[in-house]
Amino acid sequence: MCGIVGAWLNEPGDGGVQALLVEGLRCLEYRGYDSSGLGIIQPDELIVRRRQGRLAKLESLLAESGDAPALLGIGHTRWATHGEPSDGNAHPHQDAGRRVALVHNGIIENYLDLRHEVEAAGIELQSATDTEVLTQIIGIELSKGSEPLEAVRSCLERVRGNYAIALVTREPKERLICARQGPPLCIAQSERGVFLASDVMALLPYTRQITFLEDGDIAELTRSKVSIIRLNGERVERAPRQVDWDAESADKQGYAHFMLKEIHEQPDVLARAFHGRIDVERGDVQLEGDSFSDAALSKMQRLQVTACGTALHAGYIAGYMVEGLARVPVDVDYASEFRYRNPKLSEGTYALGISQSGETADTLEALRLAIRLGAHGTCIVNSISSSMVRDCQGMISIEAGPEIGVASTKAFVAMLVASYLLAIRTARARGTVTAEAASQLLRDLRELRPKLSTLLSDERVAKVRAIAEHVVDSKGFLFLGRGINYPVALEGALKLKEISYVHAEGYPAGEMKHGPIALIEPGMTTLALAPKGRLAEKLRSNIEQVKARGGRVICVGSDPGCHAVSDEGLAVPDTNEWLSPILNVVPLQLLSYFIAELKGCDIDKPRNLAKSVTVE
Ligand code: G6P
Repeated sequence: MCGIVGAWLNEPGDGGVQALLVEGLRCLEYRGYDSSGLGIIQPDELIVRRRQGRLAKLESLLAESGDAPALLGIGHTRWATHGEPSDGNAHPHQDAGRRVALVHNGIIENYLDLRHEVEAAGIELQSATDTEVLTQIIGIELSKGSEPLEAVRSCLERVRGNYAIALVTREPKERLICARQGPPLCIAQSERGVFLASDVMALLPYTRQITFLEDGDIAELTRSKVSIIRLNGERVERAPRQVDWDAESADKQGYAHFMLKEIHEQPDVLARAFHGRIDVERGDVQLEGDSFSDAALSKMQRLQVTACGTALHAGYIAGYMVEGLARVPVDVDYASEFRYRNPKLSEGTYALGISQSGETADTLEALRLAIRLGAHGTCIVNSISSSMVRDCQGMISIEAGPEIGVASTKAFVAMLVASYLLAIRTARARGTVTAEAASQLLRDLRELRPKLSTLLSDERVAKVRAIAEHVVDSKGFLFLGRGINYPVALEGALKLKEISYVHAEGYPAGEMKHGPIALIEPGMTTLALAPKGRLAEKLRSNIEQVKARGGRVICVGSDPGCHAVSDEGLAVPDTNEWLSPILNVVPLQLLSYFIAELKGCDIDKPRNLAKSVTVE
């Protein structure tokens, strides 16, 4: 939900701060991409360049304008919340006196009140955004002679909402300031200067030592020092932390899209997610922290999972695993529903948030609510420097590395591995699975990597592409699964909707006869998730029902009986029931990728979506 960068360089180098800010925005474009802009301080002028559309549009504008290389500036890539995507609503916004330019990620809830205040001061607002209001208020404060940091602080004291902001001031002093209340912001200092960004990925070219702002922090950055105050003016210190992700992971490395690269990374991601955590001989799993000790887990009475999007689908699967193996009752809910339904949590509840970014606003708030209601807060996350990790007592990091494609793929697989480890650890702590049985479960996990690699061989990928060509013009898609593969059906349908913009629904196969069967006719494609096992025969009947009504069925899975009655098939190696989602999802990811490619869609940046949703 919007990406923010800022920098103050020691030397202009090639292209000045403009070039570095654009590079930073390129790393953050996944956060929003309907417009972008820069605010640059020149010796006697504040220059704002902004354009609706992708970053390339801004780059052309910068090339035309021929501004001299500068040292100090901010940049923004937008996912619109208030005001349509347009040049005028793009960030940065400037105050009437052109003293300050500001960029913002988030939502200012009381912006209408603040807007009236600004209008009452005789200022005519130039945009429909909530952001400009902040800019104007800070401008008013500066015009009264306030120091820049104090002007920002007193403005933010009046703001209700959720924001990360960065701003540059020209008068009375040149300053680079940022503040956080919700969406992430981090800072880096190196010999080239000082930098800030919404995501560490944009800072890794400069240093691995990163300072993370906390909610309520306001930071003033000069080339020699970073000073941080709280909203009440009190000074605080935030020590930098070492970040281990490398900048190359944010590169496409020869793949046409990040999504394709990330799908192909999955065998490695899978292995990383359990590396150093499993003890096959003892039949147990090591997870860091007291939350996952025998003593703590044996007291768990209930697991409440909350998440959004793909992470929610991982959450459903985690639910099947924990209930099935550890015999703990589990509830799984959309984070956005959980937080508003006045939930009642019983004693001994573990709350589990699942999130790639660790910054999704609804998941964060749902977890915070569960913790306030007495739950033990835990999370499964990719970004270990995220707010979610800070809020929780226990954390399992999925070790997937940066995921750039907006449609989540490798993070999903890594979330499933983390969930499997949690389920086995909980089962061992509670004695619901013997050491021998757990050993076998862990051996199955260890054997999964070559199976996953098979699914990504050139030949298998070509087969998925051929099927994509056959079905690309389908009227609609129905994804059917049973048991632990029902959430895989949801995920297959979500992937297709997200990147191909075609209508797709995921359904429990047994529920099809209660409604969706009315959709079946020639021209409608059904994907049936068919692992071998106790539910295969049931699924086979569902496939027959679709076929009898003229629907085309593509079988995805290891069950030969289901393949035999389907029109086409994508074979998947066999594994245990709990792990089957990890293999079955891969052909579905590839199918949506190829359908999107055939339709000419923008695969890594699907319309209207953003990777990290830091607003409600
Ligand atoms: C957005 C993304 C999805 C993602 C969801 C949850 O909607 O487009 O791909 O699954 O947010 O994100 P999280 O970071 O919490 O996993």
